[in-house]
Amino acid sequence: MGANKIRTKYVCSNCGAETLKWMGRCPQCGEWNTLEEQVEAPVPKRIAVSEDYLTPSRPQKLSSIQYNGNERILLKMTEIDRPLGGGIVPGSVILWGGEPGIGKSTLILQICHALASQGQGVLYCSGEESEIQIKLRAERLHVNDDNCFIYAGSNIESILKEAETIKPSMLVIDSIQTMYLSGVESPMGSPAQIRDCTSALVRFAKKMNVSVMIIGHVTKEGNLAGPRILEHMVDVVFYLEGDRSYQFRVLRTVKNRFGSTSESGLFIMEGNGLRGIEDPSGYLLRNRTASTPGSTVAACMEGLRPVLVEIQALSVHSVLAIPRRIAAGCDYNRMIILLAVLEKRNHIHFSTDDVYLNVAGGFKIRETAADLAMAVSLISVKKDTPIPKDLMALGEIGLTGEIMAVSKIGPRLKEAMKMGFNHFILPDANRKEVLDFFQSNNWGNIENSIRFVKKLQDVIDILF
Ligand code: TYD
Ligand code: MG
Repeated sequence: MGANKIRTKYVCSNCGAETLKWMGRCPQCGEWNTLEEQVEAPVPKRIAVSEDYLTPSRPQKLSSIQYNGNERILLKMTEIDRPLGGGIVPGSVILWGGEPGIGKSTLILQICHALASQGQGVLYCSGEESEIQIKLRAERLHVNDDNCFIYAGSNIESILKEAETIKPSMLVIDSIQTMYLSGVESPMGSPAQIRDCTSALVRFAKKMNVSVMIIGHVTKEGNLAGPRILEHMVDVVFYLEGDRSYQFRVLRTVKNRFGSTSESGLFIMEGNGLRGIEDPSGYLLRNRTASTPGSTVAACMEGLRPVLVEIQALSVHSVLAIPRRIAAGCDYNRMIILLAVLEKRNHIHFSTDDVYLNVAGGFKIRETAADLAMAVSLISVKKDTPIPKDLMALGEIGLTGEIMAVSKIGPRLKEAMKMGFNHFILPDANRKEVLDFFQSNNWGNIENSIRFVKKLQDVIDILF
């Protein structure tokens, strides 16, 4: 046996640590259930193409490295160019994560078209769909470019060989979980395959100065499937997010070596692809009708952009032993905390009610600045009292019922005023900032329509 003995090791999909026997918990990073079996090949096979991208390079003087600052390729798709930091950097590797069916392949095909229509070559490789299926999607998107090549296949060596011949400006891999290198013994989609395929693609991108778009699946927890180091290997990580029952989509930047991670792109999924939206607030509030009990609007930040969203609440007497609580578009635990605060601090009882909280339009609230609007919606439906249509409440609620400051209040107010809101309930802790904001914008008279509050009880006294 000797050197030919097949060895099994266990590799942590979170941190990459290796152990010789399986354990429930990774000894290095402490994550549970992340150790995955890997069989080491008896004789390491030469990786046909990818090793070509490992040629050693000599150290260079920093001052002698040539760089043309204007090299970025603009896609002329604002909602993608902006999160990218001003277009694609040639030779960069971009990872696109997202749930199945959210629109990753659609978006990438639109990007292919954006590049191909500028005369740049594109090679789109899919391990998931046949050429015909991609053609059908392309017809739906009205994409039909001569310099856009489609390749259905899963072998990275063959893909890189084709890419060397075609010499595209951009190479698309849809998806990394369906790709393999024949030199790696692990099955397709395993951490080892994903890691080695990605590293071959990264070397190819840097050496050939080709941008590589890698599509990745996410696990049910919402993380990219595969080893965590995947995110470290690439230059940019995007997540395309949204609720499949709605058309609204957010392209969130998780990592960007060439730009800010606070930028995001907003889209609507339509019959012929994803369309960037410039006025997300207008879109999300488009169905809002006359004041109904249980509806309040909050200004949330999506990256650097304020977005107005309607928060709807419903509570009905429950016939169940354990009343039902459902939160859509906002954090379930946050809703539970708010219900507890309302019950204990303000004596508004929901314990025998079924409670539903919904953010209209498919937007997902990820910040506590919307706490007050959520609470106001809940009280409004409980008391059957509508909230004025032009009123906005902003603030984080603490466990004692105090209202705490929110960040970036200026941009939020600006967006609200643009959308016709002119009555505000705001945290007292933001008072100075708010008054400065109105002064610097010469909106003098509005001060009369702002109420600053310190406790949730103050809000109840004002509104109900
Ligand atoms: P797709 O790009 O295949 O998702 P992913 O690659 O992330 O799995 O998108 C699939 C969904 O998008 C599918 O349910 C149909 C819908 N869709 C549209 O609404 N409009 C379109 O123009 C296209 C191409 C797809
Ligand atoms: Mg797809």
